[in-house]
Amino acid sequence: MTAELFAAVDLIAAKRDKHELTDAQIDWFVDAYVRNVIAEEQMSAMAMAILLNGMNRREIVRWTKAYIDSGETMNWSTLGRPTADKHSTGGVGDKITLPLAPLVAACGVSVPQLSGRGLGHTGGTLDKLEAIKGWRASLSNTEMFEVLKSTGAVICAASQTLAPADRRIYALRDVTGTVESIPLISASIMSKKIAEGTGALVLDVKVGSGAFMKTVEQARELATTMVGIGNDAGVTTRALLTAMDVPLGRTAGNALEVQESIDVLAGGGPADVVELTVTLAREMLEASGAGGLKDPAQALADGSAMDVWRAMITAQGGDLSVALPMAKETHNVVADASGYLTKLDALSVGMASWRLGAGRARKEDSVQFGAGIEWHVGHGEKVEKGQELFTLHTDEPARFESALEVLTQGYEIGSESEISQRLPLIIDRIV
Ligand code: URA
Repeated sequence: MTAELFAAVDLIAAKRDKHELTDAQIDWFVDAYVRNVIAEEQMSAMAMAILLNGMNRREIVRWTKAYIDSGETMNWSTLGRPTADKHSTGGVGDKITLPLAPLVAACGVSVPQLSGRGLGHTGGTLDKLEAIKGWRASLSNTEMFEVLKSTGAVICAASQTLAPADRRIYALRDVTGTVESIPLISASIMSKKIAEGTGALVLDVKVGSGAFMKTVEQARELATTMVGIGNDAGVTTRALLTAMDVPLGRTAGNALEVQESIDVLAGGGPADVVELTVTLAREMLEASGAGGLKDPAQALADGSAMDVWRAMITAQGGDLSVALPMAKETHNVVADASGYLTKLDALSVGMASWRLGAGRARKEDSVQFGAGIEWHVGHGEKVEKGQELFTLHTDEPARFESALEVLTQGYEIGSESEISQRLPLIIDRIV
């Protein structure tokens, strides 16, 4: 047995006592955990010490590097095209990746997008795409390269070998109250994106009730930290802070969101989804040095983004000729008064959609593809008494009651002067 460089308990105590960890200490701590020299409870204690006492920029960059070094890194240089990716910190109705990846590819930049599944009230891109019959989330590296080469975009699950330290530590944080740490969130997200090998990265950091970050200040700190890590690692990185006080678009739920994404690719769709998709696409093109090749609004209008979408989905086994799954049961909520929709809270809509079966409570759970919510009236819009406000979808009608319980807390009808203040869709840009 080789002697270990450090004792785990000394490093935990150092962070507990607000000391900086050296690069060698960080490298060892993460590596020893992966080698099972450090116990789960020791990593949990370290995560809590980091959550409570923070890390400086150098420590965060090194912790991120240690995650990356725990696994393989990908490289797309043989593609012969610039690459760009986007990461969203997650929100309600956030289906932007679906139209965005083919849109950016249609403008000349390849998009190697590794995505995740949803947990809690925010949906996951892979769950949404799996609503399409036959579509496969798991690809080998060779398959991923081939789809990317032939269509310009690929969206798939990260392999087990990409930042495996993060995979284990994230699962541990989930059950030890240590998710909400800016250094740990930043390292977790950025290690996967840097290991994925993208040349440019745009972060969509959501702010508001339906997001991880509830305030603009917290979101700005997270965005600034992640932009710094990315640029230090040679990935041109920028971030937009965007609104998640109100849900995005008009639907939340897997198949419902796929349909809304297809509407956007067909040149329609809700204005906020289109605006955010086009804004993020322009950022990705510019960050990858390919701004000006073709404008994203043009690629939506001329159908070229839709062509890439079809090719990308088909290359991963998806059959777009088969209708999307629909829930067995629906329930309409109608307005009990005339006036304006003065409040539409993202978290309440997300929770209601989750309770209808669109999301999962534990990683092992499955999702209902047809479940979710449509809102027919947007925040601040006029409402007539008796008008349909929401349609709830689920396979299990017993779920309506608990979904309605949370949804009714999330909207109000009142006079025009009572319309709640909302965040601008694009709040800030951090480069
Ligand atoms: N998403 C991640 O991948 N990691 C985190 O820590 C939080 C969100």
